Amino acid sequence: MKGLVLSGGYGTRLRPLTYSQQKQLIPVANKPVLFYAIQDMIDAGIKEIYVIVGPNKEQVMETVRGAKWDAKIDFIYQDEPRGLAHTIRIAKEKLKGDSFAMYLGDNILRGGIVKAVREFEKSKCEASVMLCPVPNPHEFGIATLNRKGEIVKVVEKPKLPPTNLAVIGIYLFRPAIFKAVEEIKPSWRNQLEITDAIQWLIDKGYKVKSAKVDGWWKDTGKPDDILHANRLVLDEIEAPVSGVMGGSISGRVKIEEGAHVDESSTIRGPAVIGKGAKVSCSYIGPYTSIGNGCEITNTEISDSVVMDGAKLENAGKIVESLIGKGAKVSANNAHPHGHKMILGDNSEVKL
Ligand code: DAU
Repeated sequence: MKGLVLSGGYGTRLRPLTYSQQKQLIPVANKPVLFYAIQDMIDAGIKEIYVIVGPNKEQVMETVRGAKWDAKIDFIYQDEPRGLAHTIRIAKEKLKGDSFAMYLGDNILRGGIVKAVREFEKSKCEASVMLCPVPNPHEFGIATLNRKGEIVKVVEKPKLPPTNLAVIGIYLFRPAIFKAVEEIKPSWRNQLEITDAIQWLIDKGYKVKSAKVDGWWKDTGKPDDILHANRLVLDEIEAPVSGVMGGSISGRVKIEEGAHVDESSTIRGPAVIGKGAKVSCSYIGPYTSIGNGCEITNTEISDSVVMDGAKLENAGKIVESLIGKGAKVSANNAHPHGHKMILGDNSEVKL
């Protein structure tokens, strides 16, 4: 089986972070979201993986190439986000003849895909789709099942959802899907929808099975989703201390190489402090990821994601925040007093 991981699209719901950074590279527990998808594929024994890249393609390629993978990884350029089924059209030449797993690069699945891949390989089904109940079914592809657990209908973001079973962003296909993606027409949002391609398979009499999600699954499409995914991953993080820890620590705290936490700081896990980060006279509370090379001085922060190279100095108390790469937050001690800001387009601040 081969692998197709999607790392294109504009990520508009994550602006301003996605003006400069491809959304699948946003870190969760200090690791780009995309890396979880790639690793899940490798854990399932997939040795040949193609990554769809679009805007910021160099950034994605450089980041993926900068890590070590036990698989051959190559890239396929998509000129515009024309839909999930469109990515299969353009990947056909590389994938052809084989069954393959498709994984949306902004999805994180705790239990991985090993079990689903094994079951699919044993089955004679043409596709397998992973499902998870959600409280907001109008925001997802939604499936209806028959008594045997086979999918009989899938519909994209229905106004009146027939069930609450979301089609999560992980799909296993045999080659009939290549015909399906050629046959379907663009949807109302002018995209070739993967749900339409799956419905095409069902209508033509192919069997599409469902696989249940074990543990949790998270689509990291919006800012709150990133914070939520960060909590879920940190809840299970291993906590080796490779850096220097001088302060008081409780709970599981991972301190990466070259990081330095001074004796006047307190860290309550679960948390991760990235490579070369410096924490002085500060409190780092639960569910916080501090990126590589950050400097946190005289600040209290919890339940947040601080990206590489950001600096927080005398910044008061910060909660539930996403702070972009190289961003600076500090007290304004000069006159005139008041909040002083340089915010990118579509930034959001709650004072
Ligand atoms: O997260 C699960 C949902 O993902 C499913 O329930 C839906 O059926 C499916 O359509 C999809 O919905 P989204 O609205 O969340 O899809 P989004 O446009 O966010 O794209 C998903 C990922 O695929 C994202 O990482 C960007 C990437 N992508 C998307 C498009 C449309 C591409 O690489 N190329 C594309 O053309």
